[in-house]
Amino acid sequence: MNRKYDDLLPSPDPVSHRLRLISANWKMNLNHLEAIALVQKLYHLLRPEDFRYAEISIHPPFTSLRSLQLSFEADRMPFTLGAQNVSDQASGAFTGEVSAQMLAKLGVGYVIVGHSERRRLFGETSEEVARKAIAVQGTGMHPIVCIGESNDERRAGQTLEVLTHQLDPILSTYPAKDLDGVVIAYEPIWAIGTGESAEPEVVEETGMAIRHLLTERVGAETASRIRLQYGGSVNPGNAHEFMSLGDIDGLLVGGASLDADTFAMLVKSC
Ligand code: 13P
Repeated sequence: MNRKYDDLLPSPDPVSHRLRLISANWKMNLNHLEAIALVQKLYHLLRPEDFRYAEISIHPPFTSLRSLQLSFEADRMPFTLGAQNVSDQASGAFTGEVSAQMLAKLGVGYVIVGHSERRRLFGETSEEVARKAIAVQGTGMHPIVCIGESNDERRAGQTLEVLTHQLDPILSTYPAKDLDGVVIAYEPIWAIGTGESAEPEVVEETGMAIRHLLTERVGAETASRIRLQYGGSVNPGNAHEFMSLGDIDGLLVGGASLDADTFAMLVKSC
C-alpha cells in the first residue's frame, strides 16, 4: 500500500463501518508522462479531508505503474496504486501476461478483474475471473470484481440471474476467510461510457439484491463487510447520490477520471 501518513487514512463510514473506495480506471489511456502529470495535478487539487473520506485508487495501464509508484513515494501522495487486469498464472510461458506477484512487488493494492470490456472483448469467463481474483488475494492485494448485466438482460428481467452467475465461481472457490477483502463493482454494461448512468433507484435496488445474495451465500457477517462499488458514467454531478446509497461504498470511474479537474471535482462532491 502506498499510504504512509496516518493522518490521511480514510475513516470508515459511520453507519456501514466499511471503508469507502473511489477508483479511477484509466483503461487504455495516458502514457507514463501524462500519468505522472495527472496524479500530480490531482493531488494538488484534493484536500486532506478528501483522503480521509475515501481511499482513492488509481488504475493506470501497466506501463505507468512503476512511474506512479515512484511519484506517489517521492511526493508523498496518499493514493493507492491499482491495476486493471492480471494473469491467473504465477509465472512461465504466457507471452504478454503480467502476474499478481509482479503487481504486488510494485506496491499495487487493488486489481480490477472481470471488467465487462475484458469479458466481452477478450472472452474472459467468470471461472477465469475467479482464478484471477484468487491470484490477487494470494499476494495480499484486493481484487475489484466487476459484474454487470447488458441492456437486453435487464429488459428481459434477468439481471439478478446474470449477476449471480458472474459471482458464483468466486463465492464457491475464493478462500472464505478472505472474502471480506473482495470489492465488488456493479457496472451495468449499458451505463459504461454512454453518459447515461443507472438511476440511483436501480443502483440501490441492485446493490441491496447483491448484498442479499452475499448474505445467503457467505453469511451476514462477511456479507456486511464486503464493499460494493457502482460504476457506469459516474460524473461530478451524480457521484454524491450514488455514494449516499446505503449499500454502495465506492465508485469505479472511467472517463471522468481522465481529467484531473473533473476527477477532483467528483471526489470533492462526495
Ligand atoms: P465510464 O465511467 O467511462 O462510464 O466507465 C465506467 C467503467 O467502465 C469503469 O470501470
